This record gives sequence, C-alpha cells and structure tokens, in this order.
Amino acid sequence: MKNIKEVALSGRRVFFRVDFNVPLDEGQKITDDSRIRAVLPTLQYALASGAKVIVASHLGRPEGKKNPKMSLLPVAQRLGELLEKPVRLAGDCIGPEVKKLVQDMQAGDVVMLENLRFYPQEQKNDPSFAEKLAELCDVYVNDAFAVSHRADASVAGIVKFAPRSVSGFLLQREMDYFHKAMTDPRRPLVAIVGGAKVSDKLRALENMLQHVDKIIIGGAMANTFLKGQGCFLGKSRVEEDLVEASAAVIRAAAEKGVTVYLPVDAVVADRFDPGAATKIVPVHEIPADWMVMDIGPASSILFAEALSNAKTIVWNGPMGVFEMDAFSRGTLAMVTHVANAYALTIVGGGDTDAAVHMAKEAQRITYISTGGGAFLALLEGKQLPGVAALDEAGEK
Ligand code: 3PG
Repeated sequence: MKNIKEVALSGRRVFFRVDFNVPLDEGQKITDDSRIRAVLPTLQYALASGAKVIVASHLGRPEGKKNPKMSLLPVAQRLGELLEKPVRLAGDCIGPEVKKLVQDMQAGDVVMLENLRFYPQEQKNDPSFAEKLAELCDVYVNDAFAVSHRADASVAGIVKFAPRSVSGFLLQREMDYFHKAMTDPRRPLVAIVGGAKVSDKLRALENMLQHVDKIIIGGAMANTFLKGQGCFLGKSRVEEDLVEASAAVIRAAAEKGVTVYLPVDAVVADRFDPGAATKIVPVHEIPADWMVMDIGPASSILFAEALSNAKTIVWNGPMGVFEMDAFSRGTLAMVTHVANAYALTIVGGGDTDAAVHMAKEAQRITYISTGGGAFLALLEGKQLPGVAALDEAGEK
C-alpha cells in the first residue's frame, strides 16, 4: 500500500475518504471530535502541498436515504475550526452541483461532501457510484481506518476508478501499530479481551491464540467461560449456546501453551441498576438472585500480575459495566495496570477508548486505535477490504 507522501499533490484534486462518524448529542453537537483530529495531520500535509482537498465521510446509518439529522454540517463546521479555514459543505456527494463545486476549487480549498450513506449504492459497493466519486479526483486517499473493514464504494470500489490510490497517515499508523503488536511483537504478548458478548469476540480469541502468550478475559463475556469451567452464575448474562465453544478455546489455549486468566471474584448486584445493592464474592459463590457486573479486586490483582512482565499488550473490551460508577472499578484499575506497564500498549474499540479517557490515562497508552469494528476485524485475522484495495492498486 502506497502512502500519500509518494504522490504529487500540488494543484491536484485529492479525495480523502475519512471516518468522521462522530457521536452527536440531541442538539447535533459533536461530543467527541477525536476522529476528526486524528486526520488533521494528513489534511494539513495535503494543504501545505497545494492540494485541492475533497473530504468524504459517512455519518451514522441513514440506510440509503437523505436524513437531515445525519447531515455532515456540524462535522464540516468543526473541521473548519480545527483547520482554521473555511470548509464548504456540498449539498450532495455526487451529481452536477458537486462536480461544478470541485471544478471551481483552487489549491488550498477544502470541500466536504454530504453523507455518502445517503445513497444505498455506497454500502452496496456499486461500481457506477464508485466511478462517480472517482471522477471528482486525481488522487484518492484512504485515511478512514475505522471503516476500512467495510467493502463500501468509497472505501474499496473507488480504487478501481481513481487514477492514483494511496493511504493517509492515520491508516498507515493504525496498520503499523497493529503489525508491531501482533505480527512481530516483543514478548510476552498479552491480550486483554472484555465486553458484553463472547459471540462478538470468539473469532478474535481463536485467532489471537495463534499469536499471544497470555489472554486475560473479563467483562460479561467471561461469565460464559466461567460457566464452562463449572461455575454457577446466578442471574448473570450467559450465552448458553457458546459455553462449549468457550471451553474449546480454553482447551486450545492449553494445547498451544497460551495461559488464560479468568476472573476469580466478581462485583455482583441484585439488579441491573446504578443504585443496586452490591457485594464482592468469589466466582464460585455467586448467589442465585444476583448478577455479575464487574471483576472483583482479587481478579484485578491477578490480572496485574499477569501483565507485570508483558512487553506488548493489546486490549479490547471493558471488564464490567463501567458506565455505572459502582461497577467501573475493575475497568479503571485495568486502565492503570496497562498505563503502568513497561510495554507497547495498544487499545481499540469505543468502550475501551472511553474507559481510558475516563481514567485520564490516554497519554500513557502507546496507541489508541480510532477503530471499533475495524480493530476487531484485525484481531480476527481478517484482511480489511479498504487496505486490500490499496494493496491491489499497486503501481497504477
Ligand atoms: C464505526 O464507527 O465503527 C465506523 O464508522 C463504521 O460504522 P458502521 O459500523 O456503521 O459501518
């Protein structure tokens, strides 16, 4: 995959596929602009090189229909503030009006296209839609790591039609860090996997067994593993149909010499509520009418020990219901353990990212990925269609 530094940009129309799928509140205000900030170095480099900058993104899941609530207007405004220059939002992402707007651009101008997903063709990877997007540019740049696991027209299909296709700095950095951690890591390499569901993480666990030295499992997904190890889980969420699959992961790990760490105690609650009654119990003593909400303090110490000699740590998924104060301790303690580690530390996924920020430890993590689904797809060992398309673009 070629990178933006390898192509001439001066005076050229450069199409940047970015992922500005940012959270908005009820009043359409952006509540977290980190995905916009993450692409600034690429856009600033292009502007300094004299490019005409066309920025394209999706926002939300409008399901192929125009929806003013998912307009990129607030995003274009925020991008303008961050770049300290006007960013003009086009009324559409293809069509004669957009063509004219792009034709009239001068070097150093920035135009943002309207939400790509207002067209169903975007997610269908429709070739004629991809061709129309490509007609707008001389150079296509993918800097949208977080959507590169989707074979969408503006992510994958467009590469067939654009005269040149390269990666931006963000996509490059994401892939470089991931490879540093998983392909050629300093060992021991420890994976921390949490979150609500085993079903979301099973493929990732199976793939990671091929690469890691230890796996720490927390979050509600650990319940299913504990059940497979003979624990009684009370009212906790358990994916009954995956109890056997989770036991198979433990057996496969043992065969590969990968050590698996499960919680040894839990914070349990009498109901799923921030004000619920709580207590801490060993995982073998979960009362019938209670449910697991977080890992307990003994698990936290055990997991810290498991991390103490790590040279590389990859983390995806919280240890408990950290959004509720009473059940946030396990996840926040894990952030501290990871931040304190003498290791290359990589964190991915929206919840894990939020937990790191909640603990105010973002500065002490080596790399926080901007990807959720894309990061998970890499952990599953999949090739990202957006990256594969750039690889294939080769010498074009
Ligand atoms: C994300 O936020 O993970 C990406 O923007 C992809 O969004 P999607 O899951 O709607 O494709």
